[in-house]
Amino acid sequence: MSNKPDEQDGVPTTGHSWDGIEEFDNPMPRWWLWCFYATIVWGIGYSIAYPAWPMINKATAGILGFSTRGDLVEDLQAAEAAHADLNAALASIDLTEVANNAELDQFAVSKGAAVYRTWCSQCHGSGAAGAVGFPNLLDDAWLWGGDIEAIQTTVMHGIRNEEDPDARYSEMPRFGADDLLESEQIDQVVNYVMSLSGDPVDAEAAAAGEEVYMDNCAACHAEDGTGDREQGAPNLTDAVWLYGGDYDAVMESVENARFGVMPPWQGRLTQAEINAVSVYVHQLGGGE
Ligand code: HEC
Ligand code: HEC
Repeated sequence: MSNKPDEQDGVPTTGHSWDGIEEFDNPMPRWWLWCFYATIVWGIGYSIAYPAWPMINKATAGILGFSTRGDLVEDLQAAEAAHADLNAALASIDLTEVANNAELDQFAVSKGAAVYRTWCSQCHGSGAAGAVGFPNLLDDAWLWGGDIEAIQTTVMHGIRNEEDPDARYSEMPRFGADDLLESEQIDQVVNYVMSLSGDPVDAEAAAAGEEVYMDNCAACHAEDGTGDREQGAPNLTDAVWLYGGDYDAVMESVENARFGVMPPWQGRLTQAEINAVSVYVHQLGGGE
């Protein structure tokens, strides 16, 4: 191995040889070298001017003071300042009055839609149509109430959570798990409940279930089965089911109860955000 010039062209070789194949040692083209030097100069200049070298907590800041986060904070502050008056008005207004103020109403709905997408859609669905265990917020069926103030209270304090002492609370007994009813009685009352919304059932069992219902369920779900919003007890006659209306789902509701939980938003969201999302939910279609 030696860097002898190639015999035919007189160009020096690198001295490497693989199975007799040798490698020319041509210099890099000039233009390429200059580009290469230019990138080095650019790189040094850039790392002085802009944030570049990672340090323990954050990168070097760069003498131009450029920061995408800083820009974002400024943009957010500018947007906040531009809406300061509307937010203050929204935070303090009686929500039943919002509909009379077109500008505030429009602001609340679009702000509320953004709050909804960020904080509520995981449970209630991106279109607010709900899912098993998470109520549909588009329809007229309300557990706790669909007027604007009831919605606001639900959003502020949540439901059956331990974080907020003012949370809406009720607890359906676990009729099967805690042996409050015999399994025959449970079968009967399940048939009776299904019959209330016109589902096909065992007529004999359903008839016997009426008495079980009046004794054990009517206090919350009302004698006619239409529910009680004071206790968040669903209407059982409207064929709208939170947990499902087939035999197995109703059986599960009666045997083990459900205890749906919603977190409180007071403290986590600003009052303007809570009010905005309440207005937003109220105008979705089912608002009363
Ligand atoms: C962790 C899941 C979860 C999140 C997040 C959540 N919710 Fe709920 N929400 C529920 C559950 C579960 C219920 C029903 C509880 C029950 O059985 O009474 C509920 C009930 C409600 C109700 C009452 C519906 C009725 O029929 O009375 C409203 C209104 C509501 N949510 C609005 C919101 C809004 C607005 C947000 C966002 C700020 C939100 N929820 C975020 C789980 C959630
Ligand atoms: C202390 C009040 C209370 C009593 C008593 C009660 N329930 Fe409930 N029930 C509720 C509440 C509140 C819910 C809402 C579900 C939850 O806990 O998340 C519910 C939910 C249900 C559901 C689910 C409805 C759906 O839309 O999916 C069924 C079915 C039901 N109850 C049937 C019964 C039957 C049958 C009895 C009597 C054997 C009964 N309940 C007694 C409060 C009660």
